[in-house]
Amino acid sequence: MRVILINGSPNKNGTTNKSLEIIQKRLEKNAIESDIFYLGNKAISGCIGCGYCNKNGKCFIDDKVNEFLDIFEKYDGMIVASPVHFSSPSGFIIPFLDRLFYGKKNAIFRLKPFASIVCARRGGSSSSLDVLNKYGMFAGMIIVSSNYWNMVYGKNDTDIKEDLEGIQTLNVLADNMSYLLRLIESGKKNNIKLPELEDKIYTNFINKK
Ligand SMILES: Cc1cc2nc3c(=O)[nH]c(=O)nc-3n(C[C@H](O)[C@H](O)[C@H](O)COP(=O)(O)O)c2cc1C
Repeated sequence: MRVILINGSPNKNGTTNKSLEIIQKRLEKNAIESDIFYLGNKAISGCIGCGYCNKNGKCFIDDKVNEFLDIFEKYDGMIVASPVHFSSPSGFIIPFLDRLFYGKKNAIFRLKPFASIVCARRGGSSSSLDVLNKYGMFAGMIIVSSNYWNMVYGKNDTDIKEDLEGIQTLNVLADNMSYLLRLIESGKKNNIKLPELEDKIYTNFINKK
């Protein structure tokens, strides 16, 4: 079993990456493999709403989003991590997730475990976590929690070593993710099927006659 860990910070080796390494260590202890997927520090385009992905299963803009779509099949779960920037997730992770989760192609995420974590110096963690969790919920993923909201405090990767509660939150999250993955694996062996996929009903708030 294998989990992909997305580092949504422009800093390849900052607090966010350190948090993912803590999770990775605990996953490894639980015999779960993982890889960190770094988004880089070059601008990532937002979704242009062209609908190309609905016909082609990948994004019209050929970048990290398509790279991720190409490899996700071999992963059983996903953890999205971001620093807090102005009380929101970073300007790298938001456009990446907008394009990754938009359209019919998000069926590949259905009922796989999803968790998000945020790293902040001081404020805006809860609002950022809410934003990230909404992606997994939208795609019918199973949202994994810990013993507190998934947040860690520190300005840099050395700071967070002192956030003992935050580190425990990450470790418990990794344990809970591992447990859920084992349950799903055991369910597959026992021939427990995914619920039937219903055709999505789309409405909007304006009822046109
Ligand atoms: C543009 C920018 C905006 C930030 N906004 C916030 C904020 O709103 N709240 C906060 O607590 N920290 C804020 N920070 C600090 C980072 O969240 C914090 O240093 C984090 O640990 C950095 O993670 P990284 O090393 O993975 O990039 C901001 C940092 C930057 C660069």
